[in-house]
Amino acid sequence: MEKKFKRTLVTTALPYANGPVHIGHLAGVYVPADIYTRYLRLKGEDVKMIGGSDEHGVPITIRARKEGVTPQDVVDRYHKLIKDSFAELGISFDVYSRTTSEEHSRTATEFFRHIYEKGGFVERKSTQLYDEGAGRFVADRYVVGECPVCHAQGAYGDQCEKCGSSLSPTDLINPRCAETGNVPVLKETTHWYLPLERYQEALEKWILEGHKEWKTNVYGQCKSWLDLGLQPRAVTRDLDWGIPVPVEGADGKVLYVWFDAPIGYISNTKEILPDSWEKYWKDPETRIINFIGKDNIVFHCIIFPAMLMAYGDGYQLPDNVPANEFLNLEGDKISTSRNWAVWLHEYLRDFPGKQDVLRYVLTANAPETKDNDFTWTDFQSRNNNELVAVLGNFINRAVVLTHKYFGGKAPAAGELTDVDRSAFAEINDAVKAMSEALDTFHFREALKQAMEIARVGNRYLQETEPWKLAKTDLARTGTILNLALQICASLAIAFEPFLPFMSEKLCRMLRISSLKWADLGRTDLIAAGTEIGQPELMFEKIDDEAINAQLARLAEIKEKNRLAAWQPEPVRPEVTFDDFTKLDIRVGTVLECERVPKADKLLRFLIDDGMQKRTIVSGIAKYYEPASLVGKQVCFVANFAPRKLKGVESQGMILSAVNADGSLVVVSPSAPVAPGSTVG
Ligand code: MF3
Ligand code: ZN
Repeated sequence: MEKKFKRTLVTTALPYANGPVHIGHLAGVYVPADIYTRYLRLKGEDVKMIGGSDEHGVPITIRARKEGVTPQDVVDRYHKLIKDSFAELGISFDVYSRTTSEEHSRTATEFFRHIYEKGGFVERKSTQLYDEGAGRFVADRYVVGECPVCHAQGAYGDQCEKCGSSLSPTDLINPRCAETGNVPVLKETTHWYLPLERYQEALEKWILEGHKEWKTNVYGQCKSWLDLGLQPRAVTRDLDWGIPVPVEGADGKVLYVWFDAPIGYISNTKEILPDSWEKYWKDPETRIINFIGKDNIVFHCIIFPAMLMAYGDGYQLPDNVPANEFLNLEGDKISTSRNWAVWLHEYLRDFPGKQDVLRYVLTANAPETKDNDFTWTDFQSRNNNELVAVLGNFINRAVVLTHKYFGGKAPAAGELTDVDRSAFAEINDAVKAMSEALDTFHFREALKQAMEIARVGNRYLQETEPWKLAKTDLARTGTILNLALQICASLAIAFEPFLPFMSEKLCRMLRISSLKWADLGRTDLIAAGTEIGQPELMFEKIDDEAINAQLARLAEIKEKNRLAAWQPEPVRPEVTFDDFTKLDIRVGTVLECERVPKADKLLRFLIDDGMQKRTIVSGIAKYYEPASLVGKQVCFVANFAPRKLKGVESQGMILSAVNADGSLVVVSPSAPVAPGSTVG
């Protein structure tokens, strides 16, 4: 940390523009990056925060075909949605561009060309799966078939999700192209590879020796990649969506999405700094920080740095890559395809004006060192018990009391007492701890320390009780409220990186015009005599109704997913005709049907079986109104050994189909038959 830098370039992983962003993206990348950038700005440092949409790759082409639109249509739609919702959440990018921009295609093309001309790639032939009907190559992920290990259907060409085995598409039994259903064939193709092994030594030195301070999850992943020994990686693909490979004879080939996307950081820097962008990339006094999720580590720590080394020309490597783990939702992995997520644009619609609450909860719960869980009840309780009860409450008390006793004018402070001094000593300790935590990317800890300032404020008012003193000692009351307002001013600074909307509102109320990190903990931020605004609540309680609506939405999605994933049970072991005829299945007519008392699952039937009336008990009470079954014909096993259920003897078993959702549906003949008819 002692090394002095002139400027910082903060990059944020470019989200794929084939869906909206969700809380996992926010907690892992954008909220921490925004906190860090805002913190540096408050310190007066030269910092740029770079973002943009990642608009290439196979999934976008597939979504486009499915919807009958062009890939450009798909990325236009999501780029706008993502960009607008980030802006609404207060993610303060200096640029949010896209990889379909002209600047990007020029930059990425030149980047490839330059490495190509230096002899930085190797050309190789390989065979890949090809869909002859569709006339295109198929990515591994989009070939499906039977898993050779566990024999589940629907295993992907790169992995079986049932048993977790890593697969190669040629391992699959009965492989099919997922989109067309065609049987893929093998076809020869040529690609360009980045020979990563050439950079093995340099990368080892740079990371394993030079960056022991990186987060252990990041360092550990890099080490295990390096220990395995790096191999050449293909950087081109046979695809018609992407940046064309700028080489003679490369028709129908584009740059691999993971080759072009990180170059987007450079293109987007150029977009805002056309004349000075090189300073941010090539000057050793620039510090580059890549904010990413854990699935991006190898690309940012190994592959992109190798690309930069291959290019040369002074490109700097990142100084730190504070990758986060994953955020789960209500105990389950967030999944775009299963719609298991809280989508940012929906949150903004459902909780208007509550951007800071989401920022707060995602930071307090950030998956910094391990996967973490977002739950709606935690969201509610952090809002109600922390933002409302601690932070909002302190600010409100300071402002309301100032209005009550001093007509809304900040009173002057007299001489400070020990209580006053010790409160500010505690605040300054918290400020120091907070700055240290921010410098080392420990944002949860930093937020805790910011909150500590508000807690100190509450304790201070509790101890000094200005509402009691006001009757006897107005001067001392003035000192206390002056200091309480100074604490509010510190809160406006301390929380600006975390809760920028609250900070702005607080500044308006306290008539603060500009914030500086260095001012934190001072006792002279609000001049005596300042007319402060009317008290406004910073936060409001979130009631159970709002939370229950979110939980109900998730429950609905879960049920939908369960039904979509339903598969018939495997067929049981073979039986002979003789085995089958042992079962005497017949049709009977329901004469009576009623609930069995004290048994919520059971119905008692009286059945006309053609010879006599027999009683049968069946566990379908949850699915039928008893009266609705009277007069119906049902199938039942007539020679089933009698058994007692809740005191009632059941003489047979009524046949029901078990539906995908677990509900039971009684089996009936498709036309009326004589009671007692056998089924076979
Ligand atoms: N789109 C990728 C993802 O969401 C991230 C790309 S990061 C970049 O996983 F560096 F390539 F831009
Ligand atoms: Zn399997």
